[in-house]
Order: sequence, then structure tokens, then C-alpha cells
Amino acid sequence: MAAAAQVHMCQTIFPAHTNYRGELGAGQLLKWIDTTACLAAEKHAGMPCVTASVDDIQFEETARVGQIISINAKVNRAFTTSMEVSVKVTLQDPLTTFQKLICVAFSTYVAKPLHNGKVDLKPVEFVTAQDFLEHTLAAERRKIRLDHERVCKNLVEECGMNSEQVCNQEEGAISTDLTHVQSTELVLPPHANHQGNTFGGQIMAWMETVAVISASRLCRLHPTLKSVDMFKFRGPSTVGDRLVFNAIVNNTFQKSIEVGVRVEAFNCEEWAKGQARHINSAFLIFNAVNEHGELITFPRVKSITKDGLRRYHGAIARKKIRLARKYILLKQEDNCTLDFWDRGNQADKIESNVTALTVLAEKPGWEMISTSLDYIKMFTLEETDALSVKVEMQVRISSELAFSLLSDFRHHVQWAKHYSTCKVIQNVTEEDKIYHITSISINGNKPDDFLILVSQRKPCKTGDPYIIAVRSVALTSVPPSENYCRREIKCAGFLIYPDGNSSFVSYCIQGTPGVMPYVAATLDGSSKSIEDTASGCIHFLELQSSTMDCI
Ligand code: COA
Ligand code: ADP
Repeated sequence: MAAAAQVHMCQTIFPAHTNYRGELGAGQLLKWIDTTACLAAEKHAGMPCVTASVDDIQFEETARVGQIISINAKVNRAFTTSMEVSVKVTLQDPLTTFQKLICVAFSTYVAKPLHNGKVDLKPVEFVTAQDFLEHTLAAERRKIRLDHERVCKNLVEECGMNSEQVCNQEEGAISTDLTHVQSTELVLPPHANHQGNTFGGQIMAWMETVAVISASRLCRLHPTLKSVDMFKFRGPSTVGDRLVFNAIVNNTFQKSIEVGVRVEAFNCEEWAKGQARHINSAFLIFNAVNEHGELITFPRVKSITKDGLRRYHGAIARKKIRLARKYILLKQEDNCTLDFWDRGNQADKIESNVTALTVLAEKPGWEMISTSLDYIKMFTLEETDALSVKVEMQVRISSELAFSLLSDFRHHVQWAKHYSTCKVIQNVTEEDKIYHITSISINGNKPDDFLILVSQRKPCKTGDPYIIAVRSVALTSVPPSENYCRREIKCAGFLIYPDGNSSFVSYCIQGTPGVMPYVAATLDGSSKSIEDTASGCIHFLELQSSTMDCI
């Protein structure tokens, strides 16, 4: 065993590292990340290593000229010939105490002994509880990344089933063909390690350059890289190779855009014969701001080619998978930290319940993800440490009746398939109740239970919605039991808007670990549980309404 190998790198951002706005180019950052991580991997392996894959990276902050980038790379776990390296990138300002997290990345490196064989790596010793946690999580992440190609393929196939119909219906959509960019690079010694293997980070930097150009053709602004989807380096490239990068916009999602890049390598002989080696494909997500610093909405795109249609649906599938992965990984850090409900904090908890839901619903950045039904729309909101889901439903029933039926959670058992039982534990006020809900068991696992405060509010003025806010509470009288896994809901609930004789019902839930199992399956396409539950809810409400009409 060996203590976890670590490497630190600090860089001052100079103008040469930045774009026209004086912001650090993401390509440069990817190069530094890969170099630091590779050095950590080589420190553990004691031999040269190559980048096998890079997990999803989400960039939270923009760095500017004069600021300092600090990169810490650590080997979390060695498997057989490969190892996972985590990289934490922070931003510091030399003139202040300002310090922010830019991103966390996980890359896999494979040891490449000089004689070209394989080598079994020594395990990483874990000294602290955090080392142990990372070691465990590394195995979970490995499962996800090794399964990535298969999951993507399945979902792309499923999403593409009625592709032509969906694409051609888009009125005013712009053709993706306008965004095609091709660029060629010759790999020189500064782009490679001492063995002549091209640095993975260098390839990522070149990919980012072409992807930025491609995205800018659609928005006529300078886009900013927000995230990179998980990808694999399929094969090596060396000094002397010609690398051809082809990029095109695959799809847009209101405030973000996906650009795909395919990289092919040729040595001198292959170049003359046109024999390409496909070494990498990556999918980069950008957004762009206008002159007021506001996120712009991208135009819809269409493609008339078969490949274009496939990629259009591929982008939707990848977005779902990326969100589902985020859920799965957040789940690993599940910890319930609720204060007990007592007389001293009741008023605060009730008020924050309603406020939190209103704030969540109003947050900018909700993005629609595709849904097969036009009366149910699903949105996601990605934040640093949370992923929220919103479902909007059009219901043919008055908003007052919808409010009265939805605010009594005992009715939910009739339509929410995962509910098993629901009972009122405490009537705190006329408008605030505490419920105990138990779920059915999923996949033979222990069923979950929830202890929630439900606060219902009628609109104060015309135009305001009816609000039914939900959050977990802890009660000494209902402690967690061994029969159930106690789950936490931080913020959820309904907002109901009148729409003539109908209502527009919006259900939001902040994706904490407690609610993940219910959401992740829908996002990765393995279940339609959210859509089914929403359909069940609409059906229930409309049935109650027609029954009352008959009476
Ligand atoms: N993500 C993470 N690890 C992966 C992976 C992926 N997508 N695909 C394979 N691996 C791991 C395997 O799990 C295995 O690890 P283990 O021995 O610890 O179990 C290791 O890579 C080797 O896998 P194997 O199936 O024997 O090899 P492969 O034929 O799939 O090759 C690479 C994997 C990475 C060695 C090969 O694709 C390669 O050389 N890629 C180019 C690497 C490179 O040069 N990068 C720099 C930029 S060009
Ligand atoms: P797929 O086409 O299934 O998405 P590829 O690995 O072939 O997978 O390509 C990855 C991405 O690279 C594509 O989604 C597309 O965005 C881009 N791309 C591939 N080939 C081209 C091309 N000839 N011209 C422009 N962009 C391309």
C-alpha cells in the first residue's frame, strides 16, 4: 500500500491564457488539470501514464487575468492497471482573501510501462475517513463510467425513435449545418510527453477551440464553456500525427447548447491514404451572456441529415444521463441533518418552507428536457450542489379545487404510485400540517419514509399562485425506524395558477439525496415514473372534478 499520491499546481493567469474578455480559456484550464492529474497518477504508478477518460466536469466560476488558479490532484484509488485521480480547482485573488471553487474533476489514467505490457498497480492506502469515502465512491464512479457507452447508446436509440417527426415540426429553427467547423493540428513535441504521447489536456484544449467557434456561429456571441460530458480517449496519438477536429452544434436547450467534436488522427502515411484513427469524441455544453450579462436563450436548431437527427436526439439523451449521474453521485453523500421541530423554531420553519419553494420556482436557469406529452413538461435546474426538477401540468379543473385536493396529502396515495401510507401527525395550524408518509419498496430495497411539513397558502392578490410547500422536519415522537430508510426533502411543493376554467399546476422538487431514486430513473430514461406520476395526478384531479359536477 502507498499513501495517496498528491500533486499541487499554481498558475497566475496572464493575458496569453485568456480570451478577449480577459477570462481564462477553458481549454487552457483543461490542459493544466490533465497535467496535474497525470503527474499524480505517475507519482503513484512510478511510470508514464495516459489519460483513459474524463468524467463530467462542470465549471462554476470564471477566472480572470491576475488571479491565481490552484489545482490539487490526488489518486483516490488504483484498480488493476488504471487509477482514478480527483482534481480540485480553486480560484484565488492575490489582492483579497477571495477564494472560490471552479470545478472538481475525476480522470482515469492507465499506467503504460516502457515495454508496452500491462502492470498491476499497488493499492492506495487510506489514512483519513475522507480517503476512505473517496475510495468507496471511486468504485461507484468507475461503474458509471465503464457503463457509460452502453447507457448512452440505449438511450439515444430510445430517444431517436420518432426523430423525424420531432425535428421537422420546429418552426423557425436554424439549420445545424451552419455551425460546422473543421480544424487540423500537427502534434509537435511541446504537445506531448517525453515518450511522444500527445497530452490528453492538449487535445481537450484544441477541442474546446473548435467547439467555441461552432457555438458562436449560432449565437453570434462569445460562448462560455459550462461543462464537458464524460468521454474516453479511445486510442493514442503521438508526435507527428495530424489531428482533424470536426465540430457541430447538436442541439440547444434554451440557455445552453451542446457542441460535439470528433477527433481523428493520421500519421504521415495514413494522411496520404485518408485512413483515419478515431481517437476521441466529446460533447461540450456552452452558454452565452448578452451585453447586460444575462444568459441568452439560444435559437432552436434543426437538421435535415440522418446524422444530424441522430445527434439532435443524442444530445437530449446525454443531457438526461448527465443529470441522472449527478443525482446518483449526490446520493452517495446522503446525510440527514435536520433540526428537531420545536416551539422555538416552528414559525421560522413554516415561513422558510413557503419562501424556499417560491424562490426555487423563480430561479433563473430552468431548462426544459424533452417529454413525450404536450400537457406535461419537465424542467431541470442545475446548481453547484443541487439538481432540481420541475413538472408543469395543464389540468382541466379550477385552481381552487386543485389546491384543496392537492393540499391534503392523504389524497396523494390515490395517484402517487410510490406512496404506500400517509397520515397526519400534527395539525400545527389550519394551514400547516405534519404528515408521515411511507413509500413502497423499490427493487426489494427497504421502503423509505418521510416526515414532512406541508404549508398551504391561498393567493394574497390576483395573479399570485396557490402555494403548497413541503419540507422535511424531525420529530422526537416519530423517530426513524429500522423498517424504513428515513429520507429528507429540503424543498418541494406545488404552485397552482388559474388558467380560465383550467389550472396550471407546477410541481418543483429540489433534488436532494432523499428523493433521488424517484427522479434519477426518469432522467436516465430507465423509467417514465415522473411522467406517469404527473399523468396520474392529472387524471385524479379531473376525475374528482367530474364526480363533483355529477353531484
Ligand atoms: N474509463 C475509465 N477507465 C477505462 C475506460 C473508461 N472509459 N475504458 C477502459 N478503462 C480502463 C479499464 O477499466 C482498465 O482498467 P483496470 O485494468 O484497472 O481494470 C484499463 O482501462 C485498461 O482497459 P483495457 O480494456 O485493457 O484496455 P482498452 O483496450 O480499453 O484501452 C486505454 C484503454 C485507455 C489504454 C486505450 O483506449 C488507450 O490507449 N487510449 C488512449 C490513451 C491516450 O493516449 N490518452 C492521451 C490522449 S491521446
Ligand atoms: P455521433 O455522430 O454518434 O454523435 P461521433 O463520435 O461520430 O458520434 O461524433 C461526435 C460528435 O462530433 C458528433 O455528435 C458531432 O457533433 C461531431 N461530428 C462528428 N462528425 C462530424 C462532422 N463530419 N462534421 C461536423 N461535426 C461532426
